[in-house]
Formats: sequence, structure tokens, C-alpha cells
Amino acid sequence: MTTLAGPGAASSVGSALDRVEGLEKVTGRAKYAYEYAPDDLVYAAPVQAGIARGEVRAVDADAALKLPGVIAAIWYGNAPRLAPAENAELSVLQSRRVAYRGQYVAVVVAETLENAVEAARLLRVDYDVEEHDVELRADHPGMYRPERVNPVYPADTEQGDPDAALAAAEVVVDEVYSTPAEHNNPMEPHATVAVWDGDGLTLYDSTQGATSVRDIVAPLFGLPPGNVRVVSPHVGGGFGSKGTPLSPVVLAALAAKHAGRPVKLAVTRSQMFSVIGYRTPTIQRIRLGADARGHLGVIVHDVFEQSSRIREFAEQTATPTRMMYAAPNRRTTHRLVRLDVPTPSWMRAPGEAPGMFALESALDELAFACGIDPIELRVRNEPETDPESGLPFSSRNLVACMREGARRFGWADRDPAPGVRLRDGLLVGTGVAASTYPVYRRPSKASATALADGTFTVRIAAMDIGTGARTALTQIAADTLGVPPGLVRVEIGDSALPDASLAGGSMGTASWGTAVVRACEALTAALRERDGQVPPDGVEVSADTAREIGGERRFAQHAFGAQFAEVGVDPATGETRVLRLLGVFAAGRIVNPKTARSQFVGGMTMGMSMALLEESVMDREFGDYLNHDLAQYHVAACADVRDVEAVWIEEDDPHLNPMGTKGIGEIGIVGTAAAVANAVHHATGVRVRDLPIRIDRLV
Ligand code: MOS
Repeated sequence: MTTLAGPGAASSVGSALDRVEGLEKVTGRAKYAYEYAPDDLVYAAPVQAGIARGEVRAVDADAALKLPGVIAAIWYGNAPRLAPAENAELSVLQSRRVAYRGQYVAVVVAETLENAVEAARLLRVDYDVEEHDVELRADHPGMYRPERVNPVYPADTEQGDPDAALAAAEVVVDEVYSTPAEHNNPMEPHATVAVWDGDGLTLYDSTQGATSVRDIVAPLFGLPPGNVRVVSPHVGGGFGSKGTPLSPVVLAALAAKHAGRPVKLAVTRSQMFSVIGYRTPTIQRIRLGADARGHLGVIVHDVFEQSSRIREFAEQTATPTRMMYAAPNRRTTHRLVRLDVPTPSWMRAPGEAPGMFALESALDELAFACGIDPIELRVRNEPETDPESGLPFSSRNLVACMREGARRFGWADRDPAPGVRLRDGLLVGTGVAASTYPVYRRPSKASATALADGTFTVRIAAMDIGTGARTALTQIAADTLGVPPGLVRVEIGDSALPDASLAGGSMGTASWGTAVVRACEALTAALRERDGQVPPDGVEVSADTAREIGGERRFAQHAFGAQFAEVGVDPATGETRVLRLLGVFAAGRIVNPKTARSQFVGGMTMGMSMALLEESVMDREFGDYLNHDLAQYHVAACADVRDVEAVWIEEDDPHLNPMGTKGIGEIGIVGTAAAVANAVHHATGVRVRDLPIRIDRLV
């Protein structure tokens, strides 16, 4: 007999439950894609294009194939044919064309990894080389206006008469900001073990979406989705780079098909800089016009960015500018140029992270020009409703975050004068910037089962990429069922489970949680009908939120935050250290304060890394990013992280979803870089408008 206390009786949501798979992870029992070792497993080593544009003229595999243990060398000439893909990056080895340096042109399969790597080195590829063009410039003649920017926003928006308003404004800020290409470097590089069984394909894959990998990979091989199973119970980070299947997973499946053996393909750290996407570099011109008291009359944000020859990826860089601040006259534009470069892809807060660096730096410049405190400036320009759509915000607590942050950070005593504070030999300054991220939600399915032993199983093809999703869903299920979380087992990370949306867009918990709540509600009702009697084979119900989620939006829905930074800049060397970072967020209800804090602090640390370190440097001559490892592409390490803290304010928003949550995975990185740059200006009097804030930009 199963007794349900009913909703509200238990309250696991809001408690700092330890990760339910934590023990498995710290004892090494949690299995990641690379660790699967089916019988007869062989290894793949890719060969990458050595030119940035042209055609493969010939491939000579003789020497490679003579090495012991080599099973196959595969290139366009002998590769299995794939059905056309919507994302041309997935059409691996299907053409002679080389669209960028580092693109896969061949793959060698061998009995050992060492054999495969050596054979790949011996494979000779001859090219017809064409002149390449890899340099993003705002005045590039190839600049065009994309139809839409990601995921479905108009490329341009305009209201009022921004040009006239700029001409008439008492105070104008008109500056150009730039952000470099940045590469995602999750702890676990991409890896796939591909196993064919007749017309069935199993992929042990490091991904943010098992359901979507299944649905996108299956048709490439002419298979119905049901023939493909994607297994990914544990994933060591992704930040967007694993948000959609990219060329490595297809190459693994193709190599396994050709070789007739299970194939393991692990992308090396160095290869990640070519084949897993990156954050597009941006050039952004911001124009703000205000009266002397800092009231904005006009905001203009023009963005220039890049994509590849083979796919249009149009990042939504100016979209946050459409909803942040009130101004009757406004314009945002996105222009894109197709270059001989890899296709950019998702990287934590794509759009918002670079876009808010520019906007929030410009706000700081306006505050300085008007002689107004930067927090007060933002308060004065707080909109009543979403400035572009006119929709009411279901909740908007930017000002509350600013005020709470100011109190905790000690902002009140701040002397606004730049370049005047010397402490322990360092020029010290503080800066503030706003954070924001949209609230998204996608349909998912889930099942819930009551077992005869009094425990429950919830199944959904959700993903835990290190965020704590499995734990959060356990808490949500437990509260809906009205039982302690210890009685609930959540199974995720397998496309054989009920279909789910991906771990991206900060929408995992909102999307999956809704399906889990509906399944657990249905189970509660089913058990009531049976007076709690559970037969030996259990009671199972399922839910699908396809009808519940979607439809016309009645509210503008975004999470908000305020970030405060204190920096110390060595006046002799120009070295900048972030001494303190504080983030205050308003993101709906927080399901698990322990894992949520990690998300916020992780995002802020990545934002600090963006501010000071991360930069993929394009080599014009060879047409490739120069720095292909963590020795040359710097990410913040423990020594860079001094005092980073994240807190949140209670936000009770009834219009979101059954849990009352907004996303928390991405907002932490939004605004951090501007807060740091604004602090650097306060410390030194030097305004750095080009990320990262390198030494040579300060001295
Ligand atoms: Mo995130 S860039 O939506 O995975």
C-alpha cells in the first residue's frame, strides 16, 4: 500500500539536496561516453583539412593502410553516402569541398588509438587551394542582413525616429565595442562510441540532448528515429557546444558503418577548436542619446558578426537591447558575413553575453558622461512594460537586484572618480552591470511509475550536463508526489526514455519539470483511484506537455540580475585581477540552492574569464584560429577566482510554470564582462571596449 501525503506536504524544492549521483561521480562509477567499451571496439582518428578553402584533389591512403591494425581509411571517395542535412556541418565526408581549415576530410579506423593516430598522420591529402577570407570587418562587402537571428527573432527592429533623436540628444554616447571568437572548453571533450547492429545504431554520446541527436542523426543514415538510441547518462559540461549534434558524432557513426565494427571517436582538446563551434566574434556600435539627467531618448545597437560558407548561424547579439531599458526611439540591427571559417555555434548565453558587454559598458559610459551613479541611471530608465512588444513583464526585479547588490557590496561609499585609488600598489575600482536572460520552455514527455515496494520511478530523456538537473527533477517529482526525495528515482540521459527537449537555453528545469509535474500529478490521481493499491508490476502513467506549452505570449518573461566587480590593476604591468565579484539574481523560484549557486558562480567565473582571458586569435595567413589548446587559449583557473559570490532574491511569479522557475544556467555569464570592464575604467580611467582586457590594451 502506497500512501501519498499529497502536494504541499513535503517540500524538497528549495532545499540544498546533495546531487543524487554525486557518490557515483566522485567514486568514478558514473560512466561518460568515452568509457563505454563494447566488444570488438576500434578507434577512429580524424584527418582535418590543412587549407581554409578549396577542394580535396586526391587522397593517398597506401602508407596509412599498411600500418599494422589499420582497418579502414575513409574519405569522400569511399564514405557511405548520407542523406542531405539541414545543417551542412553534418554532411561529413560527402564532398570534395573544404569550407574551413580543420574541417574533417578523412578518418582512419584502427585496432588501437595509437595505430589510428599514426595512420591518420600518414594519410596524404592533396588539395586545390583557393584564396581564403577569414577576417571579420564591419565594412566587409559581404555583409548582409539575415532573415532572422537565433532562434526566431527578426534581424532588425526600429521604433520612433532614432536618427532625429540622436541629433537632438543633450548627451550622446557613440562607441564601438568588440568581442573575440571564443571556444567552448567543457571539462569533458566531445566523444562518441557508435555501435551498429544491422539497421540499428546505438550512440554513447556526450550531448546536451539525446532526443535531438537521435532525431537529427537517424535521417542522415536513412533510418527512422526509432532505429537510433542515444545513451548519455553523464555529461561533463557542454555550454552549448553539445546542444546540437555536430560533425564528430556523425563521423563516428559513419566510420562504424564503413568499418563494420563499433567505433570510438574522442575529440581531442586541440581538435575542439575546429569542429565543435565557437562564439562568433562581434563588432558592435552602440549609440545612446539622453537628457542631462540621464533619461534615455534613444538606443541604437548595430551588430556585425560572422558565419561559415556552409551554414548560416546568426547570433542574436542585440536582442537584450530590445527589452532592457525604456527609450521612445530605438533600433537594433544584425549584419552577417559568410567567411571561410567553421560555423559558429552556441556558447553559454549566445547573444546576451557579448551583446550585454556592449550595452552595459555603454550605460556606464553614459552614467559617467552625465555624472550620475550607474545604478541610479539604470533605475531612471527602467521600463514599465517590455519596450518593444508592449507586453507586461510577468516579473522584473532588476532594480531590486541592483539595490540588494549595492547594499551587500558596499556601493554607497563609492567615489565615482576614476583612476584615484591606490591600494597595496594596485589601482582599485568597482563596476556594476545588469544581467538578463529570456525564459524559454519546450514540450517534453515524462512517465511516472509507482512500484510495489513504495518507491517511484520517473523517466524522461532529460540531460544532466553537470548542472544538477537529475537532482532538481528528483525534488520536483518528490514534492508533486508528496513523498521524500529518497523514494524517487529519476532516470534520464537516454533517448529510449520519453522524449525531452535539450539541456540548453536555460530551459531544462522549466521544460522537463513541467512534464515531471504532470506525470506525477497523473500518478497521484491514478493511485487515489486505486486507494493506493499498487499491483506487483506497478502503476505507470505518462504525460506530454505539447498542448500545455506554446501559444501566444501574454507576458514578457526574463530573468534579471546585477553584477558587481572590484578589480585591482597593476599600474606597472597592466595586469588586472578581479578581487571581488558579486551577483544578485532574480530568477523565479530556486529549486536547489546548492546546485543553483554553482550555476550562478560558474557563469560569473566564465564571464570573468571572458572579460580578461578568452580569445581565439585568427591567423590570417593560414586561415585558422591559432591557439588550439588550454596553454594558449586561457580560461579562468582557481588562482584567478578570488572572491566570487552569488545570491538571489525571492521571486514569486505565477505565470511561468508549475514550479515557478526561470532558467539559471546562462544568466550568470551575462553582464560580468561589462562589470569588470566598468571596474577597470573606475580603477584606471582607461575604457577598454575590446575584449579581452589584455595588458596591451591598458598600458
Ligand atoms: Mo546553452 S549555449 O543554450 O547550451
